[in-house]
Formats: sequence, structure tokens, C-alpha cells
Amino acid sequence: MRRTQYSMRPVRSFIPILSIAACSSLILFATFYLSHGGRWRGIPQKIGLGDFIRPQPAKPYYNADGSAPPFNISEFVSGIPKPLGERYSRALVIAKTKKENSSWVDDEVTGWDKAVYVIDDPQAPLHTPKNKGHEAMVYFTYIIDNYDNLPDVMAFMHAHRTGWHNEEIFDFDALEMINHLSMERVTREGYMNMRCLLAPGCPDWLHPGMLQEDGQKKEEFLIAQAWSEIFPDIPVPQVLAQPCCGQFALSRERVLSIPRERYIYYRDWLLRTDIRDTMSGRIWEYLWHMVFTGETVHCPSANACLCDGFGICFDNDAQIDTYYQTMWRIRDAKDELKDWVQQDGILDEDARISLSLDEMEDAELAEGDSKGILLTAEVEEKTAELEKMKQEALKKGEQALWRAYSAGRKYHQGDGF
Ligand SMILES: *[C@@H]1O[C@H](CO)[C@@H](O)[C@H](O)[C@H]1NC(C)=O
Ligand SMILES: *[C@@H]1O[C@H](CO)[C@@H](O)[C@H](O)[C@H]1NC(C)=O
Repeated sequence: MRRTQYSMRPVRSFIPILSIAACSSLILFATFYLSHGGRWRGIPQKIGLGDFIRPQPAKPYYNADGSAPPFNISEFVSGIPKPLGERYSRALVIAKTKKENSSWVDDEVTGWDKAVYVIDDPQAPLHTPKNKGHEAMVYFTYIIDNYDNLPDVMAFMHAHRTGWHNEEIFDFDALEMINHLSMERVTREGYMNMRCLLAPGCPDWLHPGMLQEDGQKKEEFLIAQAWSEIFPDIPVPQVLAQPCCGQFALSRERVLSIPRERYIYYRDWLLRTDIRDTMSGRIWEYLWHMVFTGETVHCPSANACLCDGFGICFDNDAQIDTYYQTMWRIRDAKDELKDWVQQDGILDEDARISLSLDEMEDAELAEGDSKGILLTAEVEEKTAELEKMKQEALKKGEQALWRAYSAGRKYHQGDGF
């Protein structure tokens, strides 16, 4: 595409700002570093920068007599879905703060029992023993309190209805995800991450043995220490990965395959740990799959997850890639268009009637107009493409055969989802 006269201006004016920003960050960093005795805040003394030692499996954190809590990690088996047409009892467990508005749960979610825990209000009907560990405290509290009376399927989610960590294909809408969730897949898998898109998290987000703190994922550095307390009998893994964000679904069978005491132990760890609150919650985002699948890396194919899990069936993972690339390109093109308009670009609606993107690229448009017109057309065409892909995927999702295929399951005539 031709470069317009507008594109150079903002770059030049940024240079002085960038240098000032860089200098001040350096000064701030140096002050901070020195004032902390040359150590990053938050790094436990015993794994300070200079003397990193991978923690040995520590003594169990919980049992007073020093014995390891009962813990079998390799016994998970696939669940068997109910006969076609039979109902699943289900509970939606929501972690919320007092100021978050979760009225959508009461108003819009149907067919689910709801358990909305308020983490910072001891007066709330459902609350946690302490406001610590974010949603992890809520999820454990629900399981511990309801262990003997669990529904067939549980979904554990955050209080906000829309958020970037919800699936984009559902317009980031948690309600859509709940409504599409396949009880059968949750039953079969036992544990299902509600996020299908692999990033962030997969294929290898956390390396618990890293020597340096990574500002992007501060939990990484703390996890080695936490691990030896949480899973005292399992060596710290090289890699720990699943799609992000701490929202997932569980079958009753899977929850019950772990003794209640174990959940109490995990929650006690949260209650006692001196790792700061934001981090202890974040650590659990990358441990749920370990608890419920026994796998340190749990990165199912996005197509299997979307198709079998939510009834959105693309042909394969490559087509999902195309879908998301298109979606991200639309977003970028919209941003570029906005910038262009702000820099005095005038969008001449008449100039682009009935020309396709290809035709416009060939047409000799006036220099000043071309960028805006091309971007507008690109957004329109790609948006239509995206919608078409999505509708086709939804249609395929109605067929049990496609769902089985995506997940690599054998399909027999008459099988349900
Ligand atoms: C762990 O698994 C072994 C072998 O399957 C079994 O004998 C043992 O009782 C299990 N322990 C617990 C605590 O479930
Ligand atoms: C919560 O959000 C709903 C819309 O989802 C709105 O109607 C309601 O007024 C909000 N409540 C509060 C207390 O802000």
C-alpha cells in the first residue's frame, strides 16, 4: 500500500517523548533496585537472584505429623455422558467482589443453580473464609462446602460478563459460553478449560525453574516455591501450561475423584501463604489442570475445545487460525482507519461505491483518499468473511458427527453430543 504524507508526522513527534520516558524509567528502576538492597521485591529470600536453587520437595505444608496428604494423581478416568436427552444438574460458581455487578447471572442465566460468592463481604450469603487468593479461594470453598451434594456439572467463572479472557468468537460474552457449553464434553473430560484459544498459556507459558523474574509473568518465579508446598510429593516441572484465565468446568465425578481433605489442604495453603495475594491467585490459574487432570501441560486442540465443547466446528485448527487472523486484521484495520481519519483523512463515501477491494487496489484513486477507502473496504469484506465462517461453524456444530470428529472420538449413528 502507498505510504501517505500523514504517516511520518506522529513518529517524529514521539522521539523526544520516548527518550524522556526511557530515561525516567531507568532512573526509577535504579532507585527502586538500590532501595531494595539490590533485590526485586517479592522474590523470596531463599531464591534471591544470586543464589537460585531449585527447591527440593519440601516437607508437607499441612499435615502436622509430617506425613504427605493422600494424593493420587494418575487415576483420572473419562466420564460417560448420560443417555441422550437426559438432563444434567448444573451449578454456576461465580467469584465476585462487592463492587462488581453480577446481576447478569441472576437475570440472564437459566437452567443453572447459581452460587455467587462475594470475596470481600463477610455478610454476603455466600462468602469465603478470607479475602485472599482471588477466585481460587471461592472455587475451593464451593467444592469443600458442597462436596457431598454436587451437581453433575459445575462451571467456575468470574463475575464480569464480558472480558478479554472470554472467547472472542462469543464476543467475549460469558453468557454465550455458558449457554453453549457441552455437558457431554465436560462429563467425558472431567475438567474443561473454558478458554479454547491457546494463548496466553500454551504451549509453554511457565517455566517454573527460570532464573530470572519475567515482568510479564511474575507468578513464574514464585511457582517453584509454591509448588513444593502445594504438591510436596511431585518434582517441580520444567513447563507448566494451559490456556489462561481461571475459568473452567468440572464434572462431579472428577471433583469426587480427589478427597475433600485435599481441597481443604489447597485452600489452607492459600490461607497461609505469604506470597502476595495477586500472585497466589495467579499461580492457581496455572495449577487447576494439574489438580484435575494430573498433567503439567494441558493444551487441547482449540478446534476440539470449540467444536466438541461449545458447538462451534471449524474444519481444523488451521481454519481457526485463519478465523482469528482475520479477526485481528479487522481490529488493526479499524485502528489504522481511526488514526487516518484523525489525521485529517476525509472519507469520501461516494468514491467507493460498488468497487471490491481488488478493484479498488487497481483503481487509480487520489493519493489523499486511497488509504481510508481501502481500509474501509477491507474491514467490510473481512467482517463479512468472518461472519460467514462463524455461521458455517455453528451449523456444523449442530451435528454430533462433527463434534466427535473434532475430538477424535468414534461416532456411531444416533450418538448424541
Ligand atoms: C493410590 O493409588 C493406589 C494404586 O491405585 C491405591 O492402592 C491407593 O489406595 C491410592 N491412594 C489413595 C489415597 O487414593
Ligand atoms: C448492573 O448491571 C445491569 C446491566 O447488566 C444494570 O441494569 C444494573 O443497573 C446494574 N446495577 C448496578 C447496581 O449498577
